[in-house]
Amino acid sequence: MGIEIEQPCVELSKIAVSNTHGEDSPYFAGWKAYDENPYDEITNSPGVIQMGLAENQVSFDLLEKYLEEHAEAFTWGKGVTSFRENALFQDYHGLESFRTAMASFMEQIRGGRAKFDPDRVVLTAGATAANELLTFILANPGDALLVPTPFYPGFDRDLRWRTGVNIVPIHCDSSNNFQVTPRALEAAYKKAESMKTKVRGVLITNPSNPLGVTIQRSVLEEILDFVTRKNIHLVSDEIYSGSVFSSTEFVSIAEILEAQKYKNAERVHIVYSLSKDLGLPGFRVGTIYSYNDKVVTTARRMSSFTLISSQTQHLLATMLSDEKFTESYIKINRERLRKRYQMMIEGLRNVGIECLEGNAGLFCWMNLNPLLGKKPTREGELEIWNAVVHEVKLNISPGSSCHCDEPGWFRVCFANMSEKTLEVALERIRNFMKRMTDTKVF
Ligand SMILES: Cc1ncc(COP(=O)(O)O)c(C=O)c1O
Repeated sequence: MGIEIEQPCVELSKIAVSNTHGEDSPYFAGWKAYDENPYDEITNSPGVIQMGLAENQVSFDLLEKYLEEHAEAFTWGKGVTSFRENALFQDYHGLESFRTAMASFMEQIRGGRAKFDPDRVVLTAGATAANELLTFILANPGDALLVPTPFYPGFDRDLRWRTGVNIVPIHCDSSNNFQVTPRALEAAYKKAESMKTKVRGVLITNPSNPLGVTIQRSVLEEILDFVTRKNIHLVSDEIYSGSVFSSTEFVSIAEILEAQKYKNAERVHIVYSLSKDLGLPGFRVGTIYSYNDKVVTTARRMSSFTLISSQTQHLLATMLSDEKFTESYIKINRERLRKRYQMMIEGLRNVGIECLEGNAGLFCWMNLNPLLGKKPTREGELEIWNAVVHEVKLNISPGSSCHCDEPGWFRVCFANMSEKTLEVALERIRNFMKRMTDTKVF
């Protein structure tokens, strides 16, 4: 901080001093290592390459080209889209044109297999706000949400920190490619009961971060059946739905509800954002899509705390309502991500590293378990992670920061850099593996 001020001991709130934000995990420590010494092809080639950031930079050129050709997206016409109208607009319903465009974009991503009603779209500043807001609505402090492991490290902050809600893990493992099973759901529910914690819902990420895989239809049906039997909620975070390499491999919970004629739909809520599919995390654009009228109304009221700027809504309403553009964007973005994924896993396979077979997302789930040798523990995993971050100079995320039960798994992002940088990263991994083989670590 620029101006040093003496800090006497003035008390702060419990939330302010609690550490449930989780920002002291290796997930964020790796970011620090990158921030202190960031790789740059020309100015800092020995620096740390950031592979811990699930960011999509592979299709920026498509967005930039659209904006070059459509000045109306960021300039002001007369009437409803005039500068004055836009500058004054702060209704928590959001611009109707934007909600409509968002609903149709969500339909397009699902290949038209699910319908979304713009009146059920609640706008929030990203999926971070959407997940927290839903947690505030569905659960009381001390209650629990069941979340399959491994899960996105940010959930520790988003679901727990300010809400006071607990996360009870649904333990998944590599024996069935980390899929959720009815037995694991029951076990998590029982665990929460034994802790005298009231379970309010299950929160899934489909496609999964960090696994980079979609959840199968039969598994989704089992989860829906489970929440119905227990009379609890189901939140489906579908933030990576447009990053599925093949559109037919993604089944949204919305499709299942539609097939079941919206039976039990009032307990289901979908979270979505443009941070991943359009690569716009800085724009802070998210939604809650709920089939529950009360949740829609309450979420809309609460969204006052986390609105999207009307200027951003105006720009994206124009862009997303251009179906020709969105159709081509979704297709090309998918192809590019698939290509990157192939490049990544082939590069790793060539040096003897296997990944979980993925079909979505901006990362792969890499198995370094064979390197753990006599130390197949969390400590062993963190030792490897330390070497990879500080010696190999790649920031990857250890599975333990995603609450993975099995040591040795790492999430590696591949879409936040150029192909050239990815080549450099793969070369560094190649050298690291050679060193490990030479020193007979495995
Ligand atoms: C599963 C999941 N949910 C939510 C978020 C937060 O997204 P946003 O930038 O829209 O807040 C992320 C970001 O990495 C994520 O992976």
